[in-house]
Parts: sequence; C-alpha cells; structure tokens
Amino acid sequence: MSQRVEARAPTIDVARAREETPGCANVIHFNNAGASLMPRPVLETVLDHLRLESSIGAYEAAEHEEPALERVYDSVAALLGARREEIAVVENSTRAWDMAFYGLRFAPGDRILTSAAEYVSNYISFLQVARRTGAVIDVVPSEPSGQVSVEALERAIDSRVKLISLTYVPTNGGLVNPASAVGAVARRARVPYILDACQAVGQIPIDVSEIGCDILAATGRKFLRGPRAVGFLYVRRAFLENIEPPFLDVHAAAWVARDRYEMRPDARRFENFETNAATKLGLGKAVEYALGWGIEAIQDRVRGLAAALRERLARLPGVTVRDIGAEKCAIVTFTVDGRDPEAIKSALAGKRINVTVTEAPATRLDMEARGLKSMVRASVHYYNTEDEIDRFCAAL
Ligand SMILES: Cc1ncc(COP(=O)(O)O)c(C=O)c1O
Repeated sequence: MSQRVEARAPTIDVARAREETPGCANVIHFNNAGASLMPRPVLETVLDHLRLESSIGAYEAAEHEEPALERVYDSVAALLGARREEIAVVENSTRAWDMAFYGLRFAPGDRILTSAAEYVSNYISFLQVARRTGAVIDVVPSEPSGQVSVEALERAIDSRVKLISLTYVPTNGGLVNPASAVGAVARRARVPYILDACQAVGQIPIDVSEIGCDILAATGRKFLRGPRAVGFLYVRRAFLENIEPPFLDVHAAAWVARDRYEMRPDARRFENFETNAATKLGLGKAVEYALGWGIEAIQDRVRGLAAALRERLARLPGVTVRDIGAEKCAIVTFTVDGRDPEAIKSALAGKRINVTVTEAPATRLDMEARGLKSMVRASVHYYNTEDEIDRFCAAL
C-alpha cells in the first residue's frame, strides 16, 4: 500500500529570519499590522539607492537602476498572480484605492455594497461620493462569526448595485473576510469588485484570478515588510478601460496635441511622475524576500503564533480576546478590564514591546456593533517567537 504524503508548506527558519532582521535585537515587535521590521536586504536596497542618488544624481540614479525599477512590477505581479501591466506603484494603499475608486462613475440611486469591516478612509470616500452623486451605501450584514455574509450579499444584488467593496483583513482584528466567495458573487452579478488587501498581502497568499476582484489595493510596510510610503494597485486588464483616473499627469498620459491627451494603456496611468525610487526598489525587494520564504509558509507560521497568543491571553485574568471571524490571521486584539488600551500600550513600550491601539473610528461599523471604543492590537510576524509571546504575556 502506498503511503500518502501530505503536501505541507515549508517551515520558516526563524533563526535566520531573526538574524536578518536587525530590529529583533532591540524590541518585541508586535505591531506588524502597523509596520513590520524591515529585513536587512530591504533596508540595504533602500539605503544603497539613496547613496547612489547622492553620489551621481537622483534622476541619473533612477536611469541607472531602470531594469531593477522595472522588475518591481514583475515582483508585485508575481505576488498577486497578475500581469505587470496591471500594476501601479503609488504612495500607499489609500492612494492606490482612491485612484481606482474615484475613477468609477456613480449616478443617483446607484448602490455601493460594503461590509462591517470596511476601513475608515474607504468609508469616508463612499460618503463623499454618495453626497456628490446621490449614490447610496448599503452595508451587507455579517454572519454570527463576524465575517461578511455571502448569502446576504447575494440577496442584496440588484441592477442598481454598481460596486462591491470588501476589506479582506480589517484594521481592527484577526478577521479574514471570504474574499473569493465575494468575488464569485461579483462575477456572477457582473458587478465591479474592489478589494482592500492592505492588511492581507504578505500574510495571506493572493491570486487575483482566483479571488475574482477587478481592483486590489495594498501597502508595502505591513506584512510585506517593505519601507513606508509605498503601496500598489492592481487593476484587471479588461477593467482598465472602465476607470478614468481622477488625476492625470505627464507620466499617466501624453499631451499629444494642443487639445488632446492620451492615457497610458497600462495601470501606470494611476501613478504620477514624481516617485521615491528608493522605496519603490525597497518594495520590490520586500516582495522578493517574502516570496523567498513562501507566503504559505508565512501564513502557517503567523497563524500558529497568533493562535498561541490568543490562547495565552485568554488565560490571563481580566483579559478578553476580541477577534472575530471563522478564519483568523496574524492580528490579535484584546481588552483588559478596567485598563485603558493606551495606558497598556505605553506601559508595554516602556518594556520595549510594541503594540498599537485600534479605536472605534477606524472601523466604526464593526466597533459600534460590538460596543467597543478601543482595543489593544498585537500583530505578529514570522520572525516573532513563542518566547516573545511568553514575555509579552508576563509583561501584561
Ligand atoms: C484595512 C486597511 N486599509 C487601508 C489602510 C491604509 O493603508 P495606507 O496607510 O498604506 O494608506 C489601512 C491602514 O492601516 C488598513 O488597515
């Protein structure tokens, strides 16, 4: 009888990961959903480019590094299962999301479907566009588990629905929304689907064809471990023609006659001319570095660590773990009876432990529904250890 071999993601060499992460020597960093510690190869890529700029000139350095800058698009495309012409590299996730969202057209009565986990900036944009155009925002109910109800979404579809928006992983907890099931509904209904994957990239394997989104926005500094102030946008090739970027410049379009411009044919029409080449190269390196570990291996490791952290926190008196969802990720949220989350954050900072506080206005729909004002957010990465979890719980 032949033995069945389980296909398993390779495991992470934690010692190497820590050795390549200088910050591990200084802090217990549980603020990876804020910004992860950069690994040395990413840091060196950014610094090398800044040095090159200062030694030969910034435009000249960009020309010199042109092939490497072009490879950033291949790397991001590989991360998402996309094509390079479907990728734009911009300042952050918000700007990536905005450049697509504000390019969509809405008329009075058009419906935007969203869910309880929607991120503050996206929702503010819905409110602004609703005020300007007469479109309406409909929040699809959640299941008892806390994830968006795909059945309720299906029931909400009608001819007035012009956009489905989903936040894959919210800013305020470990919930992983069913992005692919939502994509299947969007595809059947032929409704555009925008996915905020800001907190998901780098910790969850992503394949845009499998998810079925038309637009995806994400950032470099969180679970991808890139530098700050660089993010990216994916727009499905066939969907590009449906969006006119809200801003165009000399990079996004060509001024071909006195009265005429022509937009770039690819997703770089959502970019602008002036960009930080150092952080862009850093993003590319961060993506390659993450792919080098394997996103499945990363996912395995961070889910294990987060589950261990939740389990140990739940045993501490007065601590309530607040994560919801049928599927959970690297983000762990909790409250402590009678203690202000900000005070907990500062006390931990005094012990060189980094966490952050997530407040109601960042995910108002969900936080109000659960009667929460703020929570401590501890988010782990693959370079964190069980020992750090023990020290964290002891400090708490
Ligand atoms: C779900 C979600 N979307 C978007 C953003 C915004 O990302 P950025 O700061 O890169 O614009 C965040 C930031 O925390 C987030 O948590």
